[in-house]
Amino acid sequence: MLFAHYWFLTAIVLLFKSVVSEEFVPPNSWENKEFKKTIEISNSFTAENLELTIVNIDSEPVTQYFVPIPSDIVPMISMFTAAYMSEEAFIQCMIVPGVHQLDDGTEISYGVIQFESPVAPGEEIALLAKIHYALNGNPSPEEIGMDDTQSLALTVNRYPISPYVSKTSSVDISGAEDFMELTPADNDNEVGILLTNQFKYGPFHEVPAFKSSWANVSYPVDYPLITVTDLKRDIWVSHWAHTAEFQEYYEIVNEGARLKNGFNRVEFMKRVQRTEGKGGNFIGVLGLSLTENSTDAYVTDKVGKVSSVMREEDKLLVKPRFPVFGGWAYNFTVGWTNTLDDFLHISGTEQDSFIISLPVLNGPPDTIYRNAEVSVILPEGAEVLDVGSPLPFSNATVTREYSYFDLADGHAKLTFYYSNLISELGTGELVVKYRFNTSSLYQKALYISYYVFGGLMTFFVLVNLNLNIK
Ligand SMILES: *[C@@H]1O[C@H](CO)[C@@H](O)[C@H](O)[C@H]1NC(C)=O
Ligand SMILES: *[C@@H]1O[C@H](CO)[C@@H](O)[C@H](O)[C@H]1NC(C)=O
Ligand SMILES: *[C@@H]1O[C@H](CO)[C@@H](O)[C@H](O)[C@H]1NC(C)=O
Ligand SMILES: *[C@@H]1O[C@H](CO)[C@@H](O)[C@H](O)[C@H]1NC(C)=O
Repeated sequence: MLFAHYWFLTAIVLLFKSVVSEEFVPPNSWENKEFKKTIEISNSFTAENLELTIVNIDSEPVTQYFVPIPSDIVPMISMFTAAYMSEEAFIQCMIVPGVHQLDDGTEISYGVIQFESPVAPGEEIALLAKIHYALNGNPSPEEIGMDDTQSLALTVNRYPISPYVSKTSSVDISGAEDFMELTPADNDNEVGILLTNQFKYGPFHEVPAFKSSWANVSYPVDYPLITVTDLKRDIWVSHWAHTAEFQEYYEIVNEGARLKNGFNRVEFMKRVQRTEGKGGNFIGVLGLSLTENSTDAYVTDKVGKVSSVMREEDKLLVKPRFPVFGGWAYNFTVGWTNTLDDFLHISGTEQDSFIISLPVLNGPPDTIYRNAEVSVILPEGAEVLDVGSPLPFSNATVTREYSYFDLADGHAKLTFYYSNLISELGTGELVVKYRFNTSSLYQKALYISYYVFGGLMTFFVLVNLNLNIK
């Protein structure tokens, strides 16, 4: 089994990322014996962990459990996975098209967890579900001074807003040093509780289905919010040079709070000295993680070669030409080379077929990717047999790419388009299986020598002509 150990592939089914406005309300088949949601905000993206103990209260066996997700953030989902708590087995899940309007006007969509075998009436199951969003809080306030600490605000619900009754429920926000509730609670019972690095709603008991109470919560975040609005990543595979060459073009934006009074270099230097360069909502240095054992790394931008680059093992520390404050952008290109052996496997069963597995992303940690276009360019004459992506993609194409010295039909170029990815999932590997006759390896060499030879012949003929003229 080619993909046996790529668990992502079986764990997630393609997400429906567009919300259809058709009405959908799940059947009332379950009771949440315990509903525990933890929202992790220690990264510049958000992850929701659900720990659920559920009981089938229907009179019939049931195969589906529905998880509510506000419709406006459905397109921001990077990944949705679920697993049984007792065993390390993933359960299929996906987003249901259709929305449900709650009494307070909020539009809710549903993620469905699809059990392999029906759950009998009265049966209890313990589940874990995790949803990663390419989403962070909004700067609150939107503008700050150069020496201020940035705060972000997140909109959360104090209740599960589950389609099922919850015997016990709690919602925790975890991962910041402090929290402040911006929306007053209706009653004392609903006020959030500040714990160490955590803010907690509940536990609540006997919570009715669809009960909702929205709150905005703010917390300090003293680092930039790196968003790659566009990434174009090309990986050139060459059997002839025995290399995989990476070239990436990044358009980065810091989505943090903007500067209230503009940039002042003197004030900036003072701040850097005082804080020893630590903290701040600006990008001073980008730590790009390269592939292991890579060589020949370079960085260029609009102005030219970027010289403020330092290699630290498999990291490339790049200092942009200016500190990238909230709302500012920086575009650059980075490239490096690996030997092919780092990624290539020869298929044991079929002659002339190869399997190459390449990370979906490299680049900076703790980053959101709005659009990423990842291409694998195979050697000339290679034929694609099979591909696998660990992450749901919006579409994939096979085109031809021509480079210098190419024969007529060029290189097969596979391109995967992703939207709303997060760096944490980027280590997943794209797998491409292709057939490549090793005799085509010499084709290029022959072509080059033919070309050179042809050039020489022409020169010869010219010389002879000249001689003849003399
Ligand atoms: C939370 O903040 C958003 C954006 O600032 C605002 O539109 C919304 O009304 C706030 N919600 C509540 C419940 O205060
Ligand atoms: C990188 O190089 C080191 C030392 O040569 C080697 O031990 C390691 O296996 C290499 N890693 C990869 C992924 O090839
Ligand atoms: C980066 O590229 C985008 C798209 O071409 C452009 O709109 C933006 O101005 C560029 N930013 C910088 C700082 O060069
Ligand atoms: C694939 O998706 C990208 C981004 O969503 C889009 O720019 C591109 O045109 C699409 N290509 C095809 C063939 O649909």
